[in-house]
Amino acid sequence: MIINGIEVSTKLKSSLRTKVDLLKKQGTHPCLATILVGNDQASSIYVKNKHKACYDLGISTKDNKLDSSITENELLKKIIDLNNDDSVHGILIQLPLPRHINQFKVINTINPLKDVDGLTYYNAGLLFNKKPLFIPCTPLGIIELFKYYNIELKSKDILIINRSILVGKPLSLLLLDRDATVTVCHSKTMFLEEKLKVADIIITAVGNRNIFTLKEENVKEGVVIIDVGISRLSGKVVGDTDFESLLPKASWITPVPGGVGPMTITMLLNNTVKAATRKSFNLLDI
Ligand SMILES: NC(=O)c1ccc[n+]([C@@H]2O[C@H](COP(=O)([O-])OP(=O)(O)OC[C@H]3O[C@@H](n4cnc5c(N)ncnc54)[C@H](OP(=O)(O)O)[C@@H]3O)[C@@H](O)[C@H]2O)c1
Repeated sequence: MIINGIEVSTKLKSSLRTKVDLLKKQGTHPCLATILVGNDQASSIYVKNKHKACYDLGISTKDNKLDSSITENELLKKIIDLNNDDSVHGILIQLPLPRHINQFKVINTINPLKDVDGLTYYNAGLLFNKKPLFIPCTPLGIIELFKYYNIELKSKDILIINRSILVGKPLSLLLLDRDATVTVCHSKTMFLEEKLKVADIIITAVGNRNIFTLKEENVKEGVVIIDVGISRLSGKVVGDTDFESLLPKASWITPVPGGVGPMTITMLLNNTVKAATRKSFNLLDI
C-alpha cells in the first residue's frame, strides 16, 4: 500500500487552518521568518515552497534573503533582531549555510521558543528528555504518517539509514520512545545488507542514488519503507528506493515525491502555529 503524504498533509493542514483562524480572532497573526543566505537554486525553491504553504494557511512570512558574502556577525545580528521582533513567532534558517559561517553558532542563536525547526541544542536536549518543545519537521512528519496509517511501532525492529541532526538522530529518539528497537546506520556501517534483511521498518535518508539504492532483494516480505532521500536520476526527482520493484514486497511504502516531503512542510506550519499559540496564551516557560 502506498503511503500518501499529500493526503495526510492536506487533512492536517485543514485542522491547522482552523487553529490559525482562531489565533487571528484572538489577535495573534502567526508569522514565520525565513533566512536564506546566498542563491543556491534548490534552497531558493525550498524557501519559496515554504512561503507558499504559509500563505495558503493564512500564516504570514518575513522573507530575509541575504547575500552569501554576509559575515557571521551580521547574520547573528539579524537573528537577534528576529528574536526580539514580537510579530515573528518562528524562525527558519535554510541550510546549508556558506562555509565561512559557523552553522552551530547561528542555529543556537535562535530563541528556542521560535526554533520551529527544533534544531537548537536546547530543543534537542528537551527531546532527549522526552519533553520536546519543537520536534524537527521531517522526523515529526514521519511519526504522523505512522499514526495516520496505524502502523505499529511497538517492539518493531526499525532501521534508520541516516545519522544527521535533521533526520536520523531525532527520529531514533522518537521511535525509541514509542517502544521500537532502533538501529541507526550510516556510511561506515558494516554489513548493512544483513541488517536490512531483518528490519520490520526501514527509514532511508541517504539522498545519493549513485552510492545507495534500496532494492527488492535487500528487504524482507511485508517490510514498511519510508523514503526520505531526495536525488536526481536521469533528470527525475527520486528517493533512495527502487520504488517499482519494492512495491509488491512492501506492506507500506512512501513514494518520492509525494511521501515525506509534503509532511515536512506541513510540520513546519504545525510548529509555527504551536509557537504562535504559546505566545498567544503566554505559555512561555520552557
Ligand atoms: N523529504 C524531505 O522532506 C527531506 C527532509 C530532509 C532531508 N531530506 C533528504 O534526505 C537526505 C538526507 O538529508 P540530510 O540532511 O540528513 O543529509 P546528510 O547529513 O548528508 O545525511 C546522509 C546520511 O546518509 C549516510 N550515508 C551516506 N552514504 C551511505 C551509504 N553508502 N550507506 C549508508 N549510509 C550512507 C550518511 O552517513 P555519514 O553520517 O557517515 O556521512 C548520512 O548519515 C537528502 O537527500 C535530503 O535532501 C528530505
